[in-house]
Amino acid sequence: MPTAEHLILRELVAHESEWVSGSALAAKLGVSRVAVWQHMEKLRAAGFEFEAQRSRGYRISSPPRTLHTALIETQLRVHPRGFSLLVLDTVDSTNDEAHRQLAAGRPTPFAVLARRQTRGRGRFGRTWHSDSPVNLYASFAFRPRVEPERMQTFTLWMGVNICELLAKFARVEPGLKWPNDILFQGRKAGGMLTEARIDADRMHDLVFGLGLNVNRPAGGWPADLARRAIALEEVTGTSLDLNRLAAALIGRVLLAYRAFSDGDHLATFADQWHRYDLLRGQAITLVEGGRRHTGVVTGLDDEGALLLRDPAGRTQRFRAGEVTIEKDAPLPG
Ligand code: BTN
Repeated sequence: MPTAEHLILRELVAHESEWVSGSALAAKLGVSRVAVWQHMEKLRAAGFEFEAQRSRGYRISSPPRTLHTALIETQLRVHPRGFSLLVLDTVDSTNDEAHRQLAAGRPTPFAVLARRQTRGRGRFGRTWHSDSPVNLYASFAFRPRVEPERMQTFTLWMGVNICELLAKFARVEPGLKWPNDILFQGRKAGGMLTEARIDADRMHDLVFGLGLNVNRPAGGWPADLARRAIALEEVTGTSLDLNRLAAALIGRVLLAYRAFSDGDHLATFADQWHRYDLLRGQAITLVEGGRRHTGVVTGLDDEGALLLRDPAGRTQRFRAGEVTIEKDAPLPG
């Protein structure tokens, strides 16, 4: 049941930068104009910035730069049964929080978002820089009813969906570096971390974590990331509305999960991946289990494994590994 503050926000967001009169809001809510004013004061206290003019009403001056539950919820277009959203100020890791919530029995699907993470993590136990509330740190939790073998393509499928969403939302051209990186101009804008609990061939639950650099951190990137990281804002040249993007992203991930569970993704997955694939035709080095393999990427197989043609012309498939693109290596003729 939406609260009065939610309804007010929904109206103001729907009218973007236009004025909405106090009496229109009062009529919508079935309350007095004084009551509307009191709700506006509560919203202001919660950090929303409004302009108010006696003759014109209210309007949002500029979208808040950081996450707000109500702003995300009012812009969410996809509402699967039982979905819930948790927006935290600071947490160790949204993936860890999602695992804790699952263990406590929270119904799925749900999403955990945070303005900051103190122990954001990536693949291979690496740290994910998570100190900037203008970026997205999000985890989605599910209890899938699919065989564990089917999960091979899960992160890849999510990557394709996120690229499609970003291309539409921000009119940008993202690229995917198998298996979990979202890149622009050779620099990383997003990373995905999927963690599943599988036991005796049964999938218990699944947490899909996404870190996405949306706007450039106020003080710039830390020195060690300056050459490797990029934010969407640096690609588009304008800052992005974080809450609108978060709502669109949540909707897309939930729909993508449904398609995945139904097996609907299998028909189109390979073509969609190909569209964003940055590795096909590239000379790379892949490190897996401490061993280095070099060769040219020829694509992905149906199970999402990377196909690598070695210098002797043999093709090997890899289900996991860390890829480095060999910049100076000649492309195959
Ligand atoms: C990677 O590139 O290695 C994956 C990075 C994943 C980072 C996200 S941020 C939200 C979620 N919580 C975490 O601790 N990690 C993921």
